[in-house]
Amino acid sequence: MKKVGIVAGNWKMFKTPIEGRDFVQDFINLMLNIEDVEVIFCPPFPALFNIDVVLKDTTLKLGAQNCHWEKEGAYTGEVSVSMLGSCGADYVILGHSERRHIFKETNDWINKKLKAVLDGGLKPILCIGETLDQRKSNETKDVLYHQLKEGLKGVEKLDNVVIAYEPVWAIGTGETASNEQVGEAHKWVRNILSNFYSQDIANDTPILYGGSVKPENAGELFEIEDVNGFLIGGASLKINPFKEIILTVNEKLKG
Ligand code: PGA
Repeated sequence: MKKVGIVAGNWKMFKTPIEGRDFVQDFINLMLNIEDVEVIFCPPFPALFNIDVVLKDTTLKLGAQNCHWEKEGAYTGEVSVSMLGSCGADYVILGHSERRHIFKETNDWINKKLKAVLDGGLKPILCIGETLDQRKSNETKDVLYHQLKEGLKGVEKLDNVVIAYEPVWAIGTGETASNEQVGEAHKWVRNILSNFYSQDIANDTPILYGGSVKPENAGELFEIEDVNGFLIGGASLKINPFKEIILTVNEKLKG
């Protein structure tokens, strides 16, 4: 299995379109030699188009944080996949724990969104993860199994699908899962995918870790066998930590 490296910055509801564009321009100006890493900026919707303009002619990618599954219609406040694509988005984060828990998104909705993203030619980043209560009551494996089973229902190929394992209790809390917990969860996710599809398909599907990733822990987390990169919140909002994490992944990939 060839190790790939993806680093996605999930800005959540931070940065205006101007702040976002300037941030990405500053990042580009660093002229980092990071061609081995797939770097994805995921700003709020209003910043997508502005950022796409500065990303042109670079290898950096753009992602949205959500979408609706319908192509268009009377859905006040929603945004379709084709709208995101026309703003330059390559990826869409789906099922983030904040969407599941604050906005009550169900696996069924997430599944519809995932299929719409694939149909629209974009790449979903499907987030899964257990709460602290679920971990304490030994339900982690069950939760991950059901989130994958229902999230991927009816999806025949995983070619363009990225999975992100994000334990809810580690998101934005400063608390990172231990290397052992991350390794075990990622292996389990890979195992589920190999049962649903095949070992080859499972091996080719990137599985990212998310939850308080920072420059200090990125190196050892990336060394874990089934970790193919990171989905980063807080540390993606400032140039230096984000850059350090990407450089670390790039170095580890070079071996
Ligand atoms: P965090 O967020 O890095 O701030 O923990 C991760 C995420 O929400 O994807």
